Amino acid sequence: MEELVRERLPRHVAIIMDGNGRWARHKSLNRIEGHIKGIEAVRAVVTACRELGIEFLTLYAFSIENWKRPGNEISGLMDLLQRYLREELDEMLEKNIRLRAIGDLDSLPPDAHDTLIETLEKTAHCDAMVLTLALSYSGRDEIIRAVRRLMADGENKGIRPEQISEETLSNYLSTKDIPDPDLLIRTSGEYRVSNFLLWQIAYTEIYVTETLWPDFGKDDLIKALLNYQSRQRRFGLTDEQLAMEPG
Ligand code: FPP
Repeated sequence: MEELVRERLPRHVAIIMDGNGRWARHKSLNRIEGHIKGIEAVRAVVTACRELGIEFLTLYAFSIENWKRPGNEISGLMDLLQRYLREELDEMLEKNIRLRAIGDLDSLPPDAHDTLIETLEKTAHCDAMVLTLALSYSGRDEIIRAVRRLMADGENKGIRPEQISEETLSNYLSTKDIPDPDLLIRTSGEYRVSNFLLWQIAYTEIYVTETLWPDFGKDDLIKALLNYQSRQRRFGLTDEQLAMEPG
């Protein structure tokens, strides 16, 4: 079997964790039980990424659109989030994992919000891996908020329109200290981006697996990483230009 080559691992893996509901339906369970099993998959993947030396892992845990789900599913997910943060804190500290969060965090229920902020603060010194949870997140919303702040600074600090570059806008996004994802994984066989990291995935390699998120584990992750390694990233260049590039 093909081996993972450490030097060719992605620095940043982002995951759209889809299929909890279908997993539950196939087993005649309720949707929350799918999310509970989904958390086990989160644990397995965080551990595997840390072991493999992936520097950044970003998980799409709750989208702005998810607020339209039935109230009991939303409150179930928020309870699970809080429980996950409480239960994982020691593990994160022990494994030197820094938690970060992106999205409209102020819209989270107060309990979940406070536990989240506490976990962000307690792990702020950790530097072996950054685990980012996208919560109440929408890529378009993130870009709009960045443009609003940029325009306000334009007025206050005198930034002129012609001075605005890709880097300028990137620096106003909530991911400003995080490199763009190298690999985006989506589970459950859907070929959609679903408003996730729209700006940041411009050159990201996309991998879709039929596996439903609760069934996704270390083996599936390794399969995705092997697939990534087998690809040639061209960033718009030709084969010949790439052959001449150093490294
Ligand atoms: C998609 O499955 C999954 C979600 C909307 C939430 C993902 C959440 C978890 C894995 C658990 C919480 C995570 C953390 C980090 C605490 P779906 O419900 O859309 O599945 P379906 O498309 O089959 O209905």
